[in-house]
Amino acid sequence: MKRLAIFASGTGSNAKRLIDYFSGNQYISVALLISNRKEAGALEIARKANIPAISFLKEEFYNSSTVIEKLISEKIDFIVLAGFLIKVPDNILKAYENKIVNIHPALLPNFGGKGMYGLNVHKAVIESKKKESGITIHLVNEHYDEGKVLFQAACPVLENDTPEMLATQVQELEHKYFPVVIEDFILTTAAD
Ligand code: GAR
Repeated sequence: MKRLAIFASGTGSNAKRLIDYFSGNQYISVALLISNRKEAGALEIARKANIPAISFLKEEFYNSSTVIEKLISEKIDFIVLAGFLIKVPDNILKAYENKIVNIHPALLPNFGGKGMYGLNVHKAVIESKKKESGITIHLVNEHYDEGKVLFQAACPVLENDTPEMLATQVQELEHKYFPVVIEDFILTTAAD
């Protein structure tokens, strides 16, 4: 059984999709949810599903070994960032090299980097007059949004789209593809 930790800062709709999808799965289980915000909806979603859910202060992520110790004591094999809006600390990146996956609500390498999250991304896409946007699921390295791309899916940006309307389209793609891409990635990595 491969044990997954989800890192999430916000509402947690992707965390919920992952938890629902892997519930009862023979090979993969969501074993832990970690947040940097104690009011994150994602924590509540995990607790409702009887998954341990803990928030840590930003300082604990960066200036202590509390979080990595938790990951190790919970025997976590892979980490999934589902709307995790701070940088993953170096000690976790090192311990989980090529085992951390992020989802980004645009077609990288465009519209990525620091500050590019949530509606900021969709506003930038609309202002650029690009005709399409989408999602990117990628490995996490020390640079924001620059790790190896595992999967992309696109959707059209319509003429009168608002950032909120585009967000809805992109979210549909996220919910459809994130769990299956994670499953495929873990099963192929585990088989190597
Ligand atoms: C998702 O759209 C995800 O792609 C985005 O945060 C949202 C979280 O929504 N992540 C980023 O922007 C990372 N740069 P959720 O809390 O409903 O899953």
